[in-house]
Amino acid sequence: QRRVVAVVRAEAINPEIRKTEEKVVDSVVSSELSKPLTAYCRCWRSGTFPLCDGSHVKHNKATGDNVGPLLLKKPKE
Ligand code: FES
Repeated sequence: QRRVVAVVRAEAINPEIRKTEEKVVDSVVSSELSKPLTAYCRCWRSGTFPLCDGSHVKHNKATGDNVGPLLLKKPKE
């Protein structure tokens, strides 16, 4: 029987985008959204992927990375 073992290395996934910022977070605002705020994971570490669960904080600390979520926001009325 063949056994497959996955090895996940802790390394930064953002090698060059806005590296002078502590955390790269982008927002899209649209009145067509049904929820006031949704955060999508871009670090691939979330336990609730595709939604952000805050795991990027641990990832960034462990790797020196600066990745953060994509926020979808409904404008305040
Ligand atoms: Fe991945 Fe927040 S958990 S960006």
